[in-house]
Amino acid sequence: MMNITKKKLQVSLPYDPSEFPRELSRHYITADDREISEMLNFVGLDELDDLYKHIPEVSHFNQGLNLPEELNYQDAVEKLSQISLKTNLSTSFIGDTLPSWKQHPIVDFVSKLRPLSTSYTPYQPERSQGTLVTHWIYQCALSALTGFEAINTSLYDRSAAMYEAITCATRTNKRGNKILLADSLFENELDVIKTLAEETILEFVHVPFNSETGLLQYSWLEALNEEDTNDISAFVFPQVNSLGLLENVDFLSDFARSHGIRSIACIDPMLLGNGGLKPPTDFGAEGSDFIVGEAQHLAIQPNFGGPGLGLFGCRHNEKNKKDLRSTPGRYIGKAKDLNGRDCFVMVLSTREQHIRKEKATSNVCSNQAFLATLAGASLLAKGGQGLADSVFTAKQAREKVIKAVKHLEGINVAFDESRGFNELVLEMNHSVPEIEKKARNAELQIGINVGHRIASSENRNLIKLTFSDIHDDGATDKLISFFNHIFSRKKDDEIVERHQETDPQFLRKDTLHLPSFSFDELSLYYEKLADLNVSPDDGCYPLGSCTMKYNPLLNDWAAALPGFALAHPQSAESDVQGPLEILFEIQEWFKAITGLPGVTTQPVAGAQGELVGLKLFQAYHRANGDFKRDVVFIPRSAHGTNFATAAMAGFTNSDGIVYLQANVQGTIDLEDFDKKIQEFGHRLCGVMITNPNTSGIFEDQFHSIAKAVHNAGGLVYMDGANMNAIAGKVDLGKLGVDAVHNNLHKTWTIPHGGGGPGDAIVAVSEKLIDFLPGSQIRRNLDGSFSSEKTSRSIGSFHRNWGNFGHKVRAYSYLLRLGKEGVPKMSSIAVLSAQYLYAKLKNYFPTLPSNTESIPRMHEFILTLSDEDFTNLELVGINKSQAIPQVGKLFLDFGFHAPTVAFPEVFGLMIEPTESYTKAELDRFVDAVICIKEIITDHPEAVKTAPHFTPIDRVDEVAANRNLILQEKLEHLPSLHLNRIKPSVLNNLEIREIKSRIIDSAKN
Ligand SMILES: Cc1ncc(COP(=O)(O)O)c(C=O)c1O
Repeated sequence: MMNITKKKLQVSLPYDPSEFPRELSRHYITADDREISEMLNFVGLDELDDLYKHIPEVSHFNQGLNLPEELNYQDAVEKLSQISLKTNLSTSFIGDTLPSWKQHPIVDFVSKLRPLSTSYTPYQPERSQGTLVTHWIYQCALSALTGFEAINTSLYDRSAAMYEAITCATRTNKRGNKILLADSLFENELDVIKTLAEETILEFVHVPFNSETGLLQYSWLEALNEEDTNDISAFVFPQVNSLGLLENVDFLSDFARSHGIRSIACIDPMLLGNGGLKPPTDFGAEGSDFIVGEAQHLAIQPNFGGPGLGLFGCRHNEKNKKDLRSTPGRYIGKAKDLNGRDCFVMVLSTREQHIRKEKATSNVCSNQAFLATLAGASLLAKGGQGLADSVFTAKQAREKVIKAVKHLEGINVAFDESRGFNELVLEMNHSVPEIEKKARNAELQIGINVGHRIASSENRNLIKLTFSDIHDDGATDKLISFFNHIFSRKKDDEIVERHQETDPQFLRKDTLHLPSFSFDELSLYYEKLADLNVSPDDGCYPLGSCTMKYNPLLNDWAAALPGFALAHPQSAESDVQGPLEILFEIQEWFKAITGLPGVTTQPVAGAQGELVGLKLFQAYHRANGDFKRDVVFIPRSAHGTNFATAAMAGFTNSDGIVYLQANVQGTIDLEDFDKKIQEFGHRLCGVMITNPNTSGIFEDQFHSIAKAVHNAGGLVYMDGANMNAIAGKVDLGKLGVDAVHNNLHKTWTIPHGGGGPGDAIVAVSEKLIDFLPGSQIRRNLDGSFSSEKTSRSIGSFHRNWGNFGHKVRAYSYLLRLGKEGVPKMSSIAVLSAQYLYAKLKNYFPTLPSNTESIPRMHEFILTLSDEDFTNLELVGINKSQAIPQVGKLFLDFGFHAPTVAFPEVFGLMIEPTESYTKAELDRFVDAVICIKEIITDHPEAVKTAPHFTPIDRVDEVAANRNLILQEKLEHLPSLHLNRIKPSVLNNLEIREIKSRIIDSAKN
């Protein structure tokens, strides 16, 4: 524990930062000045600025960044605490889109296991069994709760899951492009769906509310005839609607099925335990076809709205096996390694963007993986009984309030004929703002104003309250005494007793079998899982294109402060000034970092940022009366998300996506580009260029390409996944960029979480500011913060403010970097890569071929020589397997593997980042040289790799052929332990490891 005392505030950190070697380094750069000058010397440069000499001067930042000076650790801690204290955390009954349930202590424990929280997507299953098992547990637990056999390991949030389910149902149904949407879904999520569907083939038909019952108008559905429904592919409806009332899901599912429409049921997994609502497999005669929902509150607190945990499931049983391959997202399957050991691996990836590009089922790449990890752990801790207890407490609290209200004049339960569960709408004879104000004076956040949700009810004073297991007697007594104070008591003979038990038709009939485990058992188990992964904490994690840098502990500590973690996204703005301040600062800082005048902090991942960019482009052109711009240019080497995003944005005609070719320098071929401009210029919506590109080379013609695109009337999107190379050095405004995303989980130190949640900030040029989605945050003259929409906003990509928790982390990081730290960080990242490149290029050929003399930025690609390939072929490793197999040898040296086979099929892409000392980089170099020696002298040891991981190479083909996506969770999945732990490997000499590998291969 470290106590930091300053001025009035005493802040106690739950860890001692001095115990973590990277935590207190200035700018989180651990190489010292001497090491930096040695590295510069080795690569033949005099100073850090020389690393950027090849980038056209025109796009350099001339002056220092308009960012504050850096803070030292203590000052950053104090500042973060002070901002968090600006949130009103009084007793709250606000739940609505994001209810708040008690967070089980296991969640905090698991979230601190760094090899789980900081590792990447488990593309190397032999070194990622920790992550894979946690996701397997999530799939199994959610499958037990919902009855659905296939649960993916998450989409961004409920609205993203709804939209993905809609496109999936449309693909599988092939009836037409119309979708029925229940008006009783949350309005802000309907906004997201509408925004996402803009310029696609989808058309929505809204099923209206019944203002009497607060439910859908079932008679409206009954009146539809064959002709009305024959081009409807899907129907999305909630189990618990936006007024907290239970829809007749039996009727709705059966209605859909009888009309050949796929049903998408929106459920809340927290309510499906014993004593809870009935699972979606029991809706109507056969259950719903797809499920979507928000599972965030299974794991964590609201965090001002994000990260969310988008639940998505489909059936996968003897009757229906066909849907699964059309679904979006990531699945974990049970597998065997080549030695017959049980293990886990990602399956079904041939649907995903990294393989299928524009033909992928979705553009999702980073998902919400770590929340799935936490939700799984939380469910194992609570078990079926724990869920039942939580729901019981919530229902009791609700009943108690209903009973109390019955005795009062001027307040009553609205829609009393319909059934609720843990929520309640109260109608009052006072205006809602008046009640809210009085409640605030009584230290209560009473609920959500829902009068406007039903047309014709705008004048009714309706407040919705959500109850959960956080509402103990103290909380409900406080609410009741507030009501007693405001409303007068009825006479006894005026009280109508209408106590209604929830009708059993809405409830779970069978018993949920979900075991629970003690904290001790689970903490030991998850610690063992963490041991099966590696973390960037422990040394170079060379996964190219992923920027696996050190993720400061300070960031996570800050994000967990109650003023941030407990803040509700629908609280009155005056109650959440702390979170709004963070959003404001981040918004402004990213203007400075990118050199662009507009920023939205709403998108939740790089791929979603790309979609925001393309939709902004479309909106801009349409606003200018230009409806013909339906083509987007993308370099062939781009990340799969670029193509998948373009398809998702509606560039689906045969020449909607035009591939740009590369020249011999590995950058965009200008001749080819010019030809394409000639042909498609008049139809060009925009171009998407990754810069530095996926080979780690700066696109030195970017500026002139941007000019040509602008001259043709198009716009320029820069995929900013590689900002770690140029942040603070290159002014994107001068470069000609109109929109760019910054992946916060790369450059801006958000932990990768085993695949997510990621986050993104999109910055735009002047032309696009009026169209920005979400809300802009403003600092008012009195220093307070408020939000506003832009004049021609394209809509919303998130129900609230985006992944707020990650904005806190990025803010905390930037506090420590300040204006000097940002360019320093990029420079050291590039220097580290150039240093490795200079050391390794004599041992391995590099890709793209013949580009050796072109300076690399933050990453580079190695390949094998013809001789190496031949050597490996002689021991039975064919050329297509050689690179992935060499990747496995890195695991034996205690490292993660580089990125294999992207963007070059025969490439090993290495990105060291700025987080490591020269000594650590040298150790990595030694390992790669040993790998070369093994390929040359002991190729048979490549064949048997990996040797020290818990399992041998996984048989992915068999796992995909015989899909096992869940099983009954009776006990914790059994584990194989490391044959040599990464922590032990890290303490061995590299040459010693090499000889152990060779010995191991012989045995
Ligand atoms: C170049 C590039 N573009 C886009 C993405 C997608 O970003 P996200 O995973 O945040 O959706 C990635 C992710 O790896 C990437 O490397």
